[in-house]
Amino acid sequence: MTPHQTPIGSNLTLFEEDEGPRLEPLCPGAVVWRAGARNCDTALLAAVQAVTTQAPWRHLITPGGFRMSVAMTSCGSLGWVSDRRGYRYDPVDPDSGRPWPPMPAVFLGLADAAATQAGFDGFEPDACLINRYEPGARLSLHQDRDERDAHSPIVSVSLGLPAIFLFGGPVRSDPTRRIALVHGDVVVWGGPARFHYHGVLPLKAGCHSTVGEQRINLTFRRAR
Ligand code: SIN
Ligand code: FE2
Repeated sequence: MTPHQTPIGSNLTLFEEDEGPRLEPLCPGAVVWRAGARNCDTALLAAVQAVTTQAPWRHLITPGGFRMSVAMTSCGSLGWVSDRRGYRYDPVDPDSGRPWPPMPAVFLGLADAAATQAGFDGFEPDACLINRYEPGARLSLHQDRDERDAHSPIVSVSLGLPAIFLFGGPVRSDPTRRIALVHGDVVVWGGPARFHYHGVLPLKAGCHSTVGEQRINLTFRRAR
């Protein structure tokens, strides 16, 4: 068994985080850039801290009336919001009535570098959805399709506890692959894979050496 076939377990983190950046193709248009965010993880986490001071974590309500188990916030010129009226991108944080915090430079640099690794040059995200998973939190299978720009890819950065990412196809019932993502891994999907279904299995409890008992995910999009 190679380290990447090992699903989860905090005792394996050291082992899995030992290797340098490398690309793993998933399907046409989608790759995992293993360890792609590792050399800027400290700056990313400091920027998340700064964003959440201005736009605190919140558990959004789905249009169906359910409270999401994942806590979220956003930065950039647009933020993703959900409430009883539906899902949408909004330039204003509904909790504060103010614009979302600006996108930190370290976010923009990493998002562009990751997109380039996957063959999508010139990625300029205008929205970053920041997700916080505590043990048990999950994200059910969905497509990212609230963005007006279908040409730009989605860039998704994992920090903290490991998680199992589900990656399917363009139809909900397509078979899904289970991809173990650890601290510093980046997944990019665009082009023919842009509307593939994806989700995250319930987070297993653990403690990451720098991020603690949680997983933080940054998802970059071009929404407008
Ligand atoms: C998302 O689909 O928005 C987040 C995926 C993840 O947390 O890895
Ligand atoms: Fe998504």
